[in-house]
Amino acid sequence: MVASPKMREDKNKSEQPIGVFDSGIGGLTVAHAIIKKLPKERLVYFGDTAHLPYGDKSPDSVKYYSIRIAQFLMEQGCKMIVIACNTASALAYETVKDFVGGRIPVVDVVNPMVKEVGANKSLKKVGVIATKATVKSEIYARRLKEIRSNLEIASVPAPLLVSMIEEGFFNNKTSRTIIQEYLSRPKLKKIDALILACTHYPLIRPEVEEYYKGKVLIYDNSEVVARQVKDILLKSKMLATSRRGLRHFFYMSDYTKSFEESAKYFF
Ligand code: DGL
Repeated sequence: MVASPKMREDKNKSEQPIGVFDSGIGGLTVAHAIIKKLPKERLVYFGDTAHLPYGDKSPDSVKYYSIRIAQFLMEQGCKMIVIACNTASALAYETVKDFVGGRIPVVDVVNPMVKEVGANKSLKKVGVIATKATVKSEIYARRLKEIRSNLEIASVPAPLLVSMIEEGFFNNKTSRTIIQEYLSRPKLKKIDALILACTHYPLIRPEVEEYYKGKVLIYDNSEVVARQVKDILLKSKMLATSRRGLRHFFYMSDYTKSFEESAKYFF
């Protein structure tokens, strides 16, 4: 059990940071997109490197880690929590929302993506690559079918990709071979679009694009989620207005060189 969250209350909420979390470096792709769109915002980022990968964990474990992190982010005075991880969004979004109890908005990465893809009426068959846990949850297939019942969805777990990316293996011969192995699965034949349903995957987006040579539309979470964050902050009048003392904070639950290097690379 995790105790109910204590929150550092601040009078001027708009100048408080946005809390972003993932199991590791994947959420940095979302964090980066948020800051590109909203350069006055401050971030507190948490990478749960001690428990990576989430994609192989049970739903109960992912829920437990997620509420612990939500508690930490609330204690830092965050004005919003962004679950920058598809696995945690699929398994723990409702749990985190219950835990936060409406005190601050919680944004996941699945809902904005489903809205975006569902709005594209020209699509007939959509591929989804994700962690084992996200595919098992069937969240994308269920949600997309709610919007477009005739849409065909083919989900393929790609468990090697997260460790590969965390280890810095992308844009090289090894990564190309592994990516090709997953994308050539018969299930993904004749797709019109592919959802990169893991926040680590934007780092291999150029290689995925190279594989499909423009014939398949590629979606990743970063831009759609950044847009959603902006909309919510705008509507709730919580957009930061001053750049004074603008510093982002990055935390990890276990030191990894790759996390440190990626955070430096993105910020
Ligand atoms: N980046 C995460 C996601 O979007 C999870 C990777 C993992 O820890 O398995 O699913």
